[in-house]
Amino acid sequence: MKTYKIAVIPGDGVGPEVLKEGMKVLKQAAECSGAFSFEDTWFPWGCGYYLEHGQMMPGDGIRILEGFDAIYLGAVGDPRVPDHISLWDLLLKIRKSFDQYVNLRPVKLLRGAPCPLKDAAREDIHMTFIRENSEGEYAGSGSWLFKGKPNEVVIQDGVFSRTGCERIIRYAFETARKEKRSLTSISKANALNYSMVFWDQIFQELSAEYPDVETHSYLVDAASMFMVKDPSRFQVVVTSNLFGDILTDLGAAIAGGMGLAAGANLNPERKYPSMFEPIHGSAPDIAGRGIANPMASVWAASQMLDFFGHEDWGTRVLEALEAVLEDGRILTPDLGGTASTSQVGDAIARKLAEGG
Ligand code: NAI
Ligand code: MG
Repeated sequence: MKTYKIAVIPGDGVGPEVLKEGMKVLKQAAECSGAFSFEDTWFPWGCGYYLEHGQMMPGDGIRILEGFDAIYLGAVGDPRVPDHISLWDLLLKIRKSFDQYVNLRPVKLLRGAPCPLKDAAREDIHMTFIRENSEGEYAGSGSWLFKGKPNEVVIQDGVFSRTGCERIIRYAFETARKEKRSLTSISKANALNYSMVFWDQIFQELSAEYPDVETHSYLVDAASMFMVKDPSRFQVVVTSNLFGDILTDLGAAIAGGMGLAAGANLNPERKYPSMFEPIHGSAPDIAGRGIANPMASVWAASQMLDFFGHEDWGTRVLEALEAVLEDGRILTPDLGGTASTSQVGDAIARKLAEGG
């Protein structure tokens, strides 16, 4: 029997509350399968750790994580720690150190999930967002000159390498081919006259290698409008780091809200561990009350099962989640219910056990 070693970094706020439920569901899937198991090691890193030790994780944190099959992350963020520190010194550090250059975010309206678009049919909202996750606008390149002086100036560069663009766009073409769905590239070449012209050019070049994949190209402003007005246009979508960050929050809003949005940070070559997370933050406004929605974390767990090659169990976890949503009796307050975080986790685990 295969045992997967999971590094669990629950982080801050609601992070520990929701990951506890995700781990519960993962272990239920393992038990039902009889074919694999999980060994979870919890690391108390994040803003709480920073306030005590002056760093988000220990100096050898990356080396420690290297030995795991996957990382399961809750959320980081605390009003007492500047957000750029918590983001750069934990989340982005892991993404960059482990070359997790694919950020895979499903935007799918499950049965029972609320949608603010009054004319959209459920099947119209079914997208797979593939966001560049290692460079682009979030490369951290730039300078801050004449700090505090009247002539102060800051420069933030976008870094688009041929290797970086090619590998993410190729991954998207492969995904579209496998799923037999169209591929849309979202960019902004009219205004970003170097980076996005280059991106579009590479998209064009690679499309010649995939004549079987139907392609579309949108400017990011038009794409955001069509995601609301006509979401069925989008199936597999590939875009840059910044645009993907913003558009997937919009995606979350039309597909049930932040409590339901999950993301995988993948190193497709499997040289390093990949990381699975709910895309919401630490939600300080509801933390500690046991009412956070664990469904995004459960969905991320299902992505982990998919990535391990257990797509059958990944699908069953998602189906169990959808069954609880559709049933509608055991939901957290963000979805109009009165249940607690752990009651929802229990309900999903129970559905999984019944189905499996
Ligand atoms: P947030 O995602 O934490 O919260 C936004 C809204 O969504 C809040 O009203 C919150 O209550 C609600 N919400 C979020 N997750 C929920 C869940 N599971 N169930 C029910 N409701 C949920 O975003 P916000 O408030 O902008 O950021 C709070 C902190 O989190 C900041 O420090 C920010 O930097 C950090 N953050 C961390 C992320 C990460 O670790 N990946 C991502 C986004 C923000
Ligand atoms: Mg974001």
